[in-house]
Amino acid sequence: MRRPLVAGNWKLHGSRASNASLLGAIRAGLQSSWHLDVMVCPPFVYLAETAAALQGSPVILGAQDASAEAQGAFTGEVSASMLRDVGCSHVLVGHSERRTLFGESDELVARKFRTVVAAGLSPVLCVGETLQQRQAGATEAVIRQQLDAVLAAVSDEDLARGIIAYEPVWAIGTGHTASPEQAQEVHAVIRRTVLARSARIAGELRILYGGSVKGANAQALFAMPDIDGGLVGGASLDAADFLKICSAAAGTTQ
Ligand code: PGA
Repeated sequence: MRRPLVAGNWKLHGSRASNASLLGAIRAGLQSSWHLDVMVCPPFVYLAETAAALQGSPVILGAQDASAEAQGAFTGEVSASMLRDVGCSHVLVGHSERRTLFGESDELVARKFRTVVAAGLSPVLCVGETLQQRQAGATEAVIRQQLDAVLAAVSDEDLARGIIAYEPVWAIGTGHTASPEQAQEVHAVIRRTVLARSARIAGELRILYGGSVKGANAQALFAMPDIDGGLVGGASLDAADFLKICSAAAGTTQ
């Protein structure tokens, strides 16, 4: 059984005060009987303070990105080992906003995946097609290309450290979530692609769905056999909605 994971991607939101109240409400609402992993990914500047606020709680800490470089003259960058140093265990790589707004290529994303693993952290590799690509019938080809770029660049051992998030670009922040069936279809493609490499890794790999996940739609999505949790943007900024998503992933009916 793969343990569900719900990760909150806060994107470019928050302040010291709002983070403190959000984290307090999440900590207070999480039930110890829920079997799942819960992660928050605040902006870089809040990571150390968030790590301190999460002391003694089961909530784990992720970063939204990391440099592909380990260290050196790269002004403005943050390295994976720095992220580990401040308490992160996971790092998102290849989020569609990084790919489209900041020009990250498949090759760069693959390098980031490797750098994150080399620092002892787990990468959460994001993949997903645009609406135009879906309408052109290219969804499977796009997902395979994004995945293959990473599969070709990493060892089995590195791959086993990763998590994959399927996030259709047309569903991110739009309120138009993929239907559970649409999401399951792509999750199955992802698992089959990894299966061709290693049955063991494919069986253990957690594949999250992201794109307008809300308390109201989480249960139906997580009921699908290859959906192992969610990567949640907007709804992760609302403690009540985020907790509802966590409880759906834990299989409870709160
Ligand atoms: P959303 O974002 O839940 O606001 O659609 C998801 C994501 O981009 O990770």
